Parts: sequence; structure tokens; C-alpha cells
Amino acid sequence: MTDPASERRRLATVLTNGGVLKSPWLRAAVEAVPRERFLRPGVFLDEGRTWRPVTTADTDPDEWLKIAYGVDTLTTQLDGHLTADQADESVIGVPTSSSTDPATVVGMIETLDLATGHRVLEIGTGTGYSTALMCHYLGEDNVATVEVDAQVAARADAALEAAGFSTWTATGDGLLGHPFRAPYDRTIATCAVRRIPYAWIRQTRPGGVVLGTVGSWSWGTGLAKLTVGDDGTAEGSIVGRSSFMHARAQAVVPVAGDLSARTAYADRERRTQVSPLVLEEWMPAFLAEEATPSAQFVRATDSDGSPLRYLFDPERESFAEFLIDDESWTVRQGGPVALWDDVERALVAWQDAGAPEIDSVRLRVTPASHLYWIDQAPSLRWEHRIT
Ligand SMILES: C[S@@+](CC[C@H](N)C(=O)[O-])C[C@H]1O[C@@H](n2cnc3c(N)ncnc32)[C@H](O)[C@@H]1O
Repeated sequence: MTDPASERRRLATVLTNGGVLKSPWLRAAVEAVPRERFLRPGVFLDEGRTWRPVTTADTDPDEWLKIAYGVDTLTTQLDGHLTADQADESVIGVPTSSSTDPATVVGMIETLDLATGHRVLEIGTGTGYSTALMCHYLGEDNVATVEVDAQVAARADAALEAAGFSTWTATGDGLLGHPFRAPYDRTIATCAVRRIPYAWIRQTRPGGVVLGTVGSWSWGTGLAKLTVGDDGTAEGSIVGRSSFMHARAQAVVPVAGDLSARTAYADRERRTQVSPLVLEEWMPAFLAEEATPSAQFVRATDSDGSPLRYLFDPERESFAEFLIDDESWTVRQGGPVALWDDVERALVAWQDAGAPEIDSVRLRVTPASHLYWIDQAPSLRWEHRIT
């Protein structure tokens, strides 16, 4: 029978060899925390269009350990309620809670620059595995974690207790932080947000760090690492690409239904300078989200099989429809905002600046605004204000 401790050591070695796991204390935590116990009652394995339920109770212990110490994200809840023990067969659904892949979890904790004595607030407890890794080093009293889903929080709390960590697990909306244990030295979010809630900055000490994934699409999002200043603002940069399920209240409702009704009235039509297909790439998607923060990119196929692409901004009643003709694209734009004009201007400026990667993006957050900019491309500067 497989020994869980040797699986943990193997995982630690994989993460170390991959350049993700660097700190000896974090290696000790990975080698000590039993990930398999945080996945109860089971997980959904990705089968492409469907999810296959696999439960602890019905799985051979060796097979279960193989799943638990693999390198993948393991989905633990679908559609805000379904767990693997409640499904008899493969199902369709949208993941709403998971144990994020170990490389991402460990990479984010490394990025937090933790030190003994730090007090941490985690938003998005999920299974509690990442909470346990931090508790192992900092001690259970120095970690507070907030989970919006009461059942997910209860399972995580039980798993943390069973692993020996009586930490502060709260059920609530993490967008509000957790004022009762503030201030924190570090705030880390393992769900994505459209913008960093000011509550996180207010609850983090001056000199402390806030780390979270920002953006509104499922790709083109970035990991913001901000240092809180004495004046109540926070500044830093996007340190890399990062993708997480969104905070529940901020999950995007996909534009669906009859798209032709949405694009019936175009005010302008022209050839594009840049192919809209670039929006399928990470950094162009990030730029589009900055240029048109409430727009969504939609992919579809025409009845003759040709590709259709759209930008829809339901809040601002605007759209851009892209039609291909002999490898060149035409854009039809309608509504008060010419979405593609704004996005294309940003894409051209970015290309002219040498196409810098996402870690060139700087971010300053105040109570009322998010200011993003890229030093080597002065026109790439966006201020999103709360009005
Ligand atoms: C990717 S999972 C967390 C992974 C987790 N850290 C782990 O290692 O298992 C994201 C979690 O965020 C939770 N969540 C979503 N919106 C939230 C919110 N507004 N406040 C707190 N938690 C939230 C989800 O219910 C989900 O459990």
C-alpha cells in the first residue's frame, strides 16, 4: 500500500524541481499536510464536457492518493451545491469550489513573503488545504480564512480540525475581508475579483501585502501584489498570469441567446487593424479588460461554419461584431461606446511598445479608484473610478 508521507515528499520534490517550492518551511508544510483529507467527500475529475465523481469511500486508497498528490486542480463542488458523493454518474456543471493545483497554491504562498509571526487573512477557503499550509508555519491563531459557501466552510473547518489546525474559519463574503481579526500582515485571495476590494487594504497593516487575481474574464487575468502604504493606498504590480474562479458575487453571467438581436443596429463599420483573434491570447485579453472593463468576449460560429467573434458590454449597451472575409476582419460597432476602437488603440500601443508581458503592469489602489499603467507605454494608463 502506498505511504501518504512518501507521496507528499514526492510532490514536494516535483514542486522544488519545477522551481516553484523554494522555502524550507513551506517544503516542511507540503511534506506534513495530508491533502487527501481535505478532498473529502470526493472530487470531480475533468472529462472535457462532463465531470466524473470520485469519492474517498468508493475509491481504492492507492488510487485516491494518486489523485490527491497529482498536479491538477481538483474540483470539489459544482453549481454551488453538488458534491461528488451526491452524483452517481458523470455530470455537466460549473466548478464553484476546488482544491487549486499545488503549484499555484505553493507559488502564491511563496509570493506572499511570509515570515514567522505574520498574521494572514485568506479569502476563499475552499478545501482548507492552502489554509493548512500557512497554519503549519505561522500557527493556527495567526491565520483567518473566509469562505462564502457555508457547506464548503464547514467541510474545510472539519478537515482543518482533523489535521490539527483549530484556525479561524469564517463563513461570509470575503469581499468584506474579516474585520474582526484585523489588522493582517498579509491578505491573500484564492478567488478572482474584478477589482481589489478596499476592505482588504484597510484591514492590512502599512507595509503589509495584498495578493489577489484581478480581471473579469476567465483568462487575461493577473496576480496583483500590492504593498499597503501609510496613507491608506496600496501600490504594486501584476506579478504574473493567474486564473481563478471568480468571487461568487462577481461571476460573469455569459451573454447567450439570440446574438443577432444584440447586433441588429450597427452605427459604424470598418476593417480592423488588428485581428480580434488576438483576444484569445493572455496579454491582449488583459488589455481589452482594462480598456473596456464591463465587456465580454464571445466566440460563436456562423451557420456556414465561419468564425464569429463579439465584444458585448451589456452595462453600456454596446457591442462590436467581427466578421471574417478572406482572412481580413470587418468590425460592426453599435451603442454609445465604440468598444473595439478602445481595445484596438490599446493593442496597437502595446505592440508599438514591444509587446511587454503582464508583469510590466503597475497598479495603484485608493479607496475610490484603481489606476493601471505600463511605464514603457505612456498611453496605456487606465483609471477605473468608483462613481
Ligand atoms: C479556488 S477555490 C479555493 C482554493 C483553496 N484555497 C484551496 O486550496 O483549496 C475558491 C473558493 O472561493 C470561494 N469564494 C467565492 N467567492 C467568495 C467570496 N466572496 N468570499 C469568500 N470565498 C469565496 C469559493 O466558494 C471557493 O471555495
